[in-house]
Amino acid sequence: MAKIISPSMLSADFGHLDRDTRMIDESAAEWVHIDVMDGVFVPNISFGFPVLKAIRKATDKFLDVHLMIVEPMKYAKRFAEAGVQLVTIHYEAVDDVRKALEEIRSYGVMAGVSIKPATPVSVLEEILDVADLVLIMSVEPGFGGQSFIEGSAEKASELKAMIDRAGTKTLIEMDGGISAANSGMLFAAGCDALVAGSAVFGAQDPKAEIVKMLNS
Ligand code: DX5
Ligand code: ZN
Repeated sequence: MAKIISPSMLSADFGHLDRDTRMIDESAAEWVHIDVMDGVFVPNISFGFPVLKAIRKATDKFLDVHLMIVEPMKYAKRFAEAGVQLVTIHYEAVDDVRKALEEIRSYGVMAGVSIKPATPVSVLEEILDVADLVLIMSVEPGFGGQSFIEGSAEKASELKAMIDRAGTKTLIEMDGGISAANSGMLFAAGCDALVAGSAVFGAQDPKAEIVKMLNS
């Protein structure tokens, strides 16, 4: 089982994006989480390609792109070509998840699928063989700084058992309301990667906070 922290750049200071990205680059976080929101799939707009390009320039780390947009397959290829390692789409945003994940893989990047809090993990049972990662939302997608929805850890354990049964190498990532107060419990529940926005960028010492999340 991997143990990865993926700081969400949504909580970075966009006036100092280069500085904040380099700070994460020097930290113990292995991934960098990129939240793309369109104001339609979620009630908020974040950023797109120019900002992603600036982040890509400031770090060589694994870029983990979370697309909270309708019709994500219109843009998946462009994201893959922007030099990222993982493109995650929402289960609720596509009609044919298998086809979408296969297509993302064909672009030479890892393919992820995310589920909103109300979507049960059972909907993924038939497509685990084409999913490199499942991203479980532990808040309603759209905003950083929300409280962790209790019961999300149980979704990770349920998914972990499903992945073990299916015998796939699918990674489990969780996103929303995660800090050093619950990271240990979430890794123990079977999560491989944890996203953290406000907990990292709101900390006095973000790098120390990441280490704390890894060790708790
Ligand atoms: C929410 C985003 C998250 C967000 C997490 O829709 O997908 O990645 O940045 O922020 P925190 O860690 O503050 O809950
Ligand atoms: Zn996210």
